[in-house]
Amino acid sequence: MSNPSLLILPGDGIGPEVMAEVRKVITWFGDKRDLAFDVSEDLVGGAAYDAHGVPLHDDTMAKALEVDAVLLGAVGGPKYDDLDFSVKPERGLLRLRKEMDLYSNLRPAQCFDALADFSSLKKDIVAGLDIMIVRELTSGVYFGEPRGIFEEGNERVGINTQRYTESEIERAARSAFELAMRRNKKLCSMEKANVMESGILWREVVTRVGADYPEVELSHMYADNGAMQLVRAPKQFDVIVTDNLFGDILSDCAAMLTGSLGMLPSASLGAPMDNGRPKAMYEPVHGSAPDITGQGKANPIACILSFAMALRYSFDQGAEADRLEAAVEQVLADGVRTADLLGEEGVTPVSTGEMGDCIVAALDASL
Ligand code: NAI
Ligand code: MG
Repeated sequence: MSNPSLLILPGDGIGPEVMAEVRKVITWFGDKRDLAFDVSEDLVGGAAYDAHGVPLHDDTMAKALEVDAVLLGAVGGPKYDDLDFSVKPERGLLRLRKEMDLYSNLRPAQCFDALADFSSLKKDIVAGLDIMIVRELTSGVYFGEPRGIFEEGNERVGINTQRYTESEIERAARSAFELAMRRNKKLCSMEKANVMESGILWREVVTRVGADYPEVELSHMYADNGAMQLVRAPKQFDVIVTDNLFGDILSDCAAMLTGSLGMLPSASLGAPMDNGRPKAMYEPVHGSAPDITGQGKANPIACILSFAMALRYSFDQGAEADRLEAAVEQVLADGVRTADLLGEEGVTPVSTGEMGDCIVAALDASL
């Protein structure tokens, strides 16, 4: 059988810097765990614009649709700020999400013990936190019609429409239940069924899908209460599923419970391909960080943890994903810090490359 395939799109700014560290990790798994990948690399975002005049070449799009998983760094930067909207770097990312139909966005919020002091919340509220927010990514109010700014009488009206079909809710819900089955069999669905018809339908469909997963303990919560509960007692949750708009806000809120942007991975999953694997793209939550680009200051952990998600969700290598996450945890426990993680006095930051080397060394030590 041929190796699983990975398309790496480093992108712009610190994207190539953090991706170089992921490469070290990928090489390690090939050498030491007999887990080799067929890796190809291509351009996205500003880098693609510079080479081809478009933020994503058709050939790259075609490759992305063929491979088992895409790993993306970041796109954008000041150099591209004045480009026409149609060729902005972000459009490359949006095209990937749209054409791969990645409807389920997984955003973990996990607190590493060594970084619990970083949270804006009290340490005991976040220590040991490990939750996952599943955000519906391809529908809802960001896409619904009608939309626009219209004249109405003698003033203007801005309109966006929250619209969800049953099948859109169902596929997002199913992916959340599947995830819950692999974790602690606990799922909380969030909407505003008290004031929104789309929320009533959301709750109805999620409940119906739940009948196929009798082992999963399903609860429902209004999203505003969900926001309160996330900062009051986040450890009450395991998997949360919600729509595009609420998910955008709740996942950013949950992310900050755990500290630095340089630590946050994500996965975006779509329908299963012929080989049973979901269409998938993995990327750090952070952007291209132009303020620190080229200085060796970027924290590669978000991107490395995104690869750990790929191991778990695309390649069925949960134990190896655990190994990689444990290596990251060990390095942090040893006090190794990139500049974004500095809090304690007297700690000298390591570079992007040194952090990657330390994680590879911790992987070696795990054997
Ligand atoms: P950003 O995430 O790039 O940076 C925000 C702050 O966090 C900066 O101070 C940066 O230095 C720091 N930071 C981010 N990642 C870090 C890491 N791995 N290690 C250490 N520090 C890190 O967001 P910003 O500044 O709003 O956007 C910069 C560019 O990135 C813009 O062009 C924006 O459009 C783009 N962007 C791209 C995203 C993507 O590719 N998915 C997501 C967000 C922004
Ligand atoms: Mg956001």
